Amino acid sequence: MLDDDARIPVLWLGEMMMDADRRLGDRFEVLSAEEADLDAIIAARGNDIRAVTTRGKRPVDDALLDRLPNVEIVAAFAVGYESVDTDAAKARNVVVTNTPDVLNDEVADLAVGLLIATIREIPQADRHLREGGWSDQPYRLTSSLRERTIGIAGMGRIGRAIAERLVPFGRPIAYHARRPVADVPYAHHPTLLGLAEACDTLIVILPGGPATKHAVNAEVLKALGADGVLINVARGSCVDEAALVQALADRTIAAAGLDVFEKEPGFTPALAAMDNVVLLPHVGSGSVHTRTLMADLGVKNLVSWFEGRGPVTPVAETPWTGAK
Ligand code: 8YV
Repeated sequence: MLDDDARIPVLWLGEMMMDADRRLGDRFEVLSAEEADLDAIIAARGNDIRAVTTRGKRPVDDALLDRLPNVEIVAAFAVGYESVDTDAAKARNVVVTNTPDVLNDEVADLAVGLLIATIREIPQADRHLREGGWSDQPYRLTSSLRERTIGIAGMGRIGRAIAERLVPFGRPIAYHARRPVADVPYAHHPTLLGLAEACDTLIVILPGGPATKHAVNAEVLKALGADGVLINVARGSCVDEAALVQALADRTIAAAGLDVFEKEPGFTPALAAMDNVVLLPHVGSGSVHTRTLMADLGVKNLVSWFEGRGPVTPVAETPWTGAK
């Protein structure tokens, strides 16, 4: 239960999301590693800290948890939590939470927008107009969604939301997941390579982490083919960025729309000079509306936990058993 005499120290890793610290109220003490040196915070308060929040930029691993012996909860203010070592958390009886569902629609909207922007070259056409090219010649004719078969790598909550949005476009849809997903009507491919062979437009919405690292490699890109379009709204780590740059440069595939990169913030500089890519700075969930919902859910997890009601959205690896 909350102790009225003492605020609960929370180690805040990464930027503040939508005034989450204010939303926590005055019963928590936020120790921000953006504002002070992490080692200094831990040296001074490591034994007091009872919660950690993360937006995924710094690892929450064995080494960090070893230095925070009284942590009870790690709250990811994101749906992806691959930066948190859930085995290390579980071994210490630390619960891990994330912010699922509240961002599904926003990320799915962005995926569809990025898909069409990439295929119809919307940013490139905008540049053509702004740079005065239109008076010399109309913008070149583009590829079309009309001719395409869409593959979705990953059929979790966001993958489903993307697929549902694409159904009215009238194109065949297939997906890759390790096993067929119940109630999903699209063609299932047990391997990503199989999906890439069967489609020419691949949308990546896999979880991050070691299991999906470089899942989209040179072989998958080759299978996508010369008309191939790759859209990544998942994690940069899911795509071998060097192989992608090569495939775009030698037209092994036609184009890519990328919201995520292997080393963020940043991207392979060669991409900026290419006219067959659309690049976004990881903005999938980045609306005021959705980031507010994510901040609310992150805060709810912390408050609920320290009021003894358990986590609201624990991740599968650290299920809530009712025992603190
Ligand atoms: C943000 C995301 O990057 O939730 C995720 O997993 O990728 C995005 O919504 C995240 O909130 C970190 O700021």
